[in-house]
Amino acid sequence: MCGIVGFVGQRQAADVLVEGLSKLEYRGYDSAGVAVIEDGEIEIRKCKGRLANLSSKLKDEPVHGTMGIGHTRWATHGEPSDVNSHPHSNTSETISVVHNGIIENYLKLREKLEAKGYKFFSQTDTEVIPNLIDYYYKGDLLEAVKKATTKMEGSYAIGVISKNEPGKLVAVRKDSPLIVGLGKDEFFIASDIPAVLNYTRDVYLLEDKEFVVMTKDGVTLYDEDGEMVNKDVYHVTWDAHAAEKGGYEDFMIKEIHEQPKAIKDTMTSRLVAGQDIVLDKIHLTKEQLDNVDKIYIIGCGTAYHAGLVGKNIIEKLARIPVEVDIASEFRYRDPLITDRTLIIVISQSGETADTLAVLRDGKKKGARVVAITNVVGSSVSREADDVFYTWAGPEIAVASTKAYVTQLVALYILTLYLADLKGTLSKEEIEKIKTEMLTLPEKAETLLNNLETMQKFASKSYMEKDIFFLGRGLDYAVSLEGSLKLKEISYIHAEAYAGGELKHGPIALIEPGTVVIATLTQETLLDKMVSNIREVVTRGAKVLGIAFEGSTEIEKTCDYAIYIPRTMELLAPILSVIPHQLISYYVAKQKGCDVDKPRNLAKSVTVE
Ligand code: F6R
Repeated sequence: MCGIVGFVGQRQAADVLVEGLSKLEYRGYDSAGVAVIEDGEIEIRKCKGRLANLSSKLKDEPVHGTMGIGHTRWATHGEPSDVNSHPHSNTSETISVVHNGIIENYLKLREKLEAKGYKFFSQTDTEVIPNLIDYYYKGDLLEAVKKATTKMEGSYAIGVISKNEPGKLVAVRKDSPLIVGLGKDEFFIASDIPAVLNYTRDVYLLEDKEFVVMTKDGVTLYDEDGEMVNKDVYHVTWDAHAAEKGGYEDFMIKEIHEQPKAIKDTMTSRLVAGQDIVLDKIHLTKEQLDNVDKIYIIGCGTAYHAGLVGKNIIEKLARIPVEVDIASEFRYRDPLITDRTLIIVISQSGETADTLAVLRDGKKKGARVVAITNVVGSSVSREADDVFYTWAGPEIAVASTKAYVTQLVALYILTLYLADLKGTLSKEEIEKIKTEMLTLPEKAETLLNNLETMQKFASKSYMEKDIFFLGRGLDYAVSLEGSLKLKEISYIHAEAYAGGELKHGPIALIEPGTVVIATLTQETLLDKMVSNIREVVTRGAKVLGIAFEGSTEIEKTCDYAIYIPRTMELLAPILSVIPHQLISYYVAKQKGCDVDKPRNLAKSVTVE
């Protein structure tokens, strides 16, 4: 996820571009840059870090010109650095491009272009785009961009300028957002509406493969076949602040709704039907894996909960013993680490102090460390031996949602990879799981379109003092995450218990009216869970059951039932966590809590 902007008009472009980017920083903030046409030449200013760094660079080295493009980055390919920042240019520096998305076949394109003499300086996928456009350039920028896009696989919203056609900006999108702002004698492109709201409220909302040609005299849109497109102007009525949240009330609910895309993005280019799993930053050989006698999965909070799911699936599918621990406990308990240990650290931010300490200590003791993280270039990603990036995009709300779901996806993919390497699953078995995983974005979307029961349950339960969560196996791991989500944003005391553990003590807390949320997706454990629910119902509990659609028998024991689309039991956590997140969200909203910034919490815990 990144933000792009473009401008053609009378004002100084750099000012307009930086102002626009400031409204898109929620889409990424690890580096920023602009390219402006000044006296017929492309002038680029770009640097690592927040937009403020770019602003001071522009103060020291100003650029003058009335058209240009800009970018705020959330790294996916290549760590945050000056050279990996956008805009990127072709080898002869005649064309500049800003890009939001992922070019999946960039390595293939890069090889082909290198064979034709093009040179590459960054580690990004984006750098192939200006070179590809240059390769096809025969005096018409639009035609060259069109030809280039026929070779580009993946997702993109791009803004392109060329010193050969200095008054023209060309843009196009596919599976990444892009709008056109229509001012008075000035025109804009942007990843999102807030970037243009200071200048205009009239926009075109572009469809995939609609090409934009923008000059100071106006904007023309074309379809893939070169036909002109006539579009209705959309007049924006909402305010800029709401717009950054894409019309959602809070970042948390926005991020919950982004999960289908986050799941899809994290699978992109790694899980392809009929092909082996490709993990470009994991270099474990079969020999090295055969030497591993134990895996530790380490994280804090939500990341630790993802690890609990990881243990279950790695042991089941790759048949390697796994222990999961909280980083702050693990690092001080003198764990048994040898050169036969594999440590998987999970951290959204990649900066959590305890997790980082485990990584460093583990490496010192000879273990191999694989990191699962959402932040390219983070400390964890730089110091680990192997990295699996979750492609969730920036997570702004303090309570983790889309990062957790993508950590799960990463763990499933990693497990299949390990099982393949070890030979504990056949290619057919792997293919079957992969095929089902590829359906999950759509199933998550369906789930997000059925919110009524969750909202109703929240409106009845938001005044509770305690809420209990029950589950067995994978459902227990998800219940722990559900209870964390509820307590951190609604301040209701919440506890999760393994269903079978209840009668060993916690059942003493159940009294008439106590609210219990029970998850029952695991077929083999279903009867046992139903018995556990009966135990609490007998003592007067009110129960919300979360199960696969079709499991209507839960209605006999539960007061409320939420159904999730059917998938393999093994994959259930990716879907079943979503109602848990939504229930917490609606309960907290009913209570009037600030869901994005819960009290006492910070997004990245860089102290012990
Ligand atoms: C809870 C939450 C925290 C984090 C934890 C680890 O919603 O977000 O529990 O999961 O602080 O953070 P990272 O993953 O950045 O290491």
